[in-house]
Amino acid sequence: MTAIGGFKPASRRGQRPAIHSIGEFVLSVPDLAPAQHFYGAFGLAVVEEGDALALRTEADGYRWGRVVGGPRKAMHHVTFHCFEEDFEPLKHHLEGEGVRLLDPPPGFPSNGLWIRDPDGLLIEVAVGVKTSPDTKQPVAWEETPSGRRNAPYRRNAHTVQPRRLSHILRFTPDVRAAVAFYSRMLGLRLSDSSGELIAFMHAVHGSDHHVMAFSKSAAPGLHHLSWDVGTLGDVGLGAMAMAERGYDRGWGLGRHVLGSNYFHYVRDPWGSYSEYSCDIDYIPATMDWEGLDHPAEDSFYLWGPQVPPEFIVNAEAETAG
Ligand SMILES: [Fe+2]
Repeated sequence: MTAIGGFKPASRRGQRPAIHSIGEFVLSVPDLAPAQHFYGAFGLAVVEEGDALALRTEADGYRWGRVVGGPRKAMHHVTFHCFEEDFEPLKHHLEGEGVRLLDPPPGFPSNGLWIRDPDGLLIEVAVGVKTSPDTKQPVAWEETPSGRRNAPYRRNAHTVQPRRLSHILRFTPDVRAAVAFYSRMLGLRLSDSSGELIAFMHAVHGSDHHVMAFSKSAAPGLHHLSWDVGTLGDVGLGAMAMAERGYDRGWGLGRHVLGSNYFHYVRDPWGSYSEYSCDIDYIPATMDWEGLDHPAEDSFYLWGPQVPPEFIVNAEAETAG
């Protein structure tokens, strides 16, 4: 059952009931051991919970994801959270739109609403804690003071621990259809896009520039999970620590244009990515952000290394044959 608590007053931006944040993702993989090693190395607390691995942030213990056993790597489902007063209106809205409400999948008892997105991804909408920040989170710049050696020895470098999940980027054969669905059914809004190639969506009660994003591919799949860290230094330090543990494939250090965040993507054991992200644009609940379309060649990234060809490969499409 979903935990209830920690609510903030709803902003009520817009007329339509809307989810406010990602509650949890559940990933299925053929072997849990590589997941345990990868996400532990990435800086998350990986805890065995029954047959699953729970992925929690070290500082607050929040469970952002679970990894369960399955025939191949795929997203089992994503849970979105809404305010308690929006739950019944969301249910009525979905029913009015003709969306089929499903039973919870085996092993995931819940009082949430279960639906599928246009690509067949299983989605739960449940009352739960607002995990998206209510304000722009501070980013620290570790300024070197005069008259002292400021950088530590490498052996004394701290372990990077993400503060929270920022967003999920999914491959889809139809970006416009995904935007239409998540906008109409769940109340997300378009933040920015590049034609039919990519689109970024935020939650209207105050969230990062994107909580969900969609990139065009021949088949559905996970591109990356993005994890927020508090300093640019942590993006680099996290990338180095992962490389030392064998996860040296990825892309970064760089800075995006759409979302503005500094990034380093680390390739996971299944060919998708986890991103260290810092200082992403924030869209407050009180603002009607104008979603704009941008030329792809001018808006993918501001600076960074050349994009490795494998970065845009949908590994799930390949394994699906
Ligand atoms: Fe990202």
